[in-house]
Amino acid sequence: MKEKLQSLKSEALAAVAAATDEKLLDEVRVKYLGKKGELTAILKQMGSLSPEERPIMGQLVNQAKAELEEAISVAQNGFKTKAAEAKLKAETLDITMPSTPAKKGGLHPLNIVLNDMIDIFQSMGFDVVDGPEVETDYYNFEALNVPQDHPARDMQDTFYLAENLLLRTQTSAAQIRTMETRKPPIKIICPGRVYRADEVDATHSPVFHQIEGLVVDKNITMCDLKGVLEQFAHEIYGKETEVKFRPSFFPFTEPSVEVDVTCSECRGKGCRVCKGSGWIEILGAGMVHPRVLKACGIDPEEYSGFAFGIGLDRLTTTRYKVSDIRLLFENDLRFLKQF
Ligand code: DAH
Repeated sequence: MKEKLQSLKSEALAAVAAATDEKLLDEVRVKYLGKKGELTAILKQMGSLSPEERPIMGQLVNQAKAELEEAISVAQNGFKTKAAEAKLKAETLDITMPSTPAKKGGLHPLNIVLNDMIDIFQSMGFDVVDGPEVETDYYNFEALNVPQDHPARDMQDTFYLAENLLLRTQTSAAQIRTMETRKPPIKIICPGRVYRADEVDATHSPVFHQIEGLVVDKNITMCDLKGVLEQFAHEIYGKETEVKFRPSFFPFTEPSVEVDVTCSECRGKGCRVCKGSGWIEILGAGMVHPRVLKACGIDPEEYSGFAFGIGLDRLTTTRYKVSDIRLLFENDLRFLKQF
């Protein structure tokens, strides 16, 4: 029995040494140390030994068992370390490898021009205010001296949402909201989207942008209007640009003007962009009509003011020589990436 134990032990240790992975190692463990294992079987034969031999043999078997368990555990740890090392190696990141460059967003051309305009007007002391795009008939027309059935309503084909609710056709509505909540001196601009039921073509879109301006104080005259708008045109288009004030009509201003600047494409010679005239119209303006002041609770005997409405889309297409206004709204990245 002693020899058998001896040879079984060496056989088992050799099998441990030969096991190349954890699974094979476990098979070795089961084969010798499992419930039906060969070493376990020897322990079961102890009953047939004499009482003198039994403790000696028992000790030997237990020793062999402990030795084998130790060998298995050492081998097992070896496999675990190797597996961990392999895992670490496989998961190593090469931080020196160049990454794919992150795609940078950019400002929409309308926002670039708008930001410039805001800078210009803020430097002249204007506040920037916001107004709702869904307006009531009162703010968009009535309070601006455009009563029901006034022919001026035809000039602005309106999207109505309900009886008295519409998409604002002009940022001029902001004038009324401002005068209702602020006392003169007032000096604001209100940029934003406006809507008109126009046919879409290269120069018309049902959604476009305006920047409304309003100044109300004591002794405000047409000279102030001229000074502010000339300054603005020179900063946007350059000092050499000429500015022309043409008499015009708006229900909410008296007198009213439209302002043209020398065509930046042909420098005034006449071209396709300015339709041969040498001028580009950029805004409407005028002295705030006394009725508009009155509607907002401001005494026209004491105060006067001027207002203007600038078309942002036209300014943007002329600055960047964009031939079709629709490009501003299609969000084609190939177009937008150029700015
Ligand atoms: N609201 C006018 C339009 O959409 C533009 C305009 C003209 C605004 C004269 C004004 C103004 O404030 O005084 O055509």
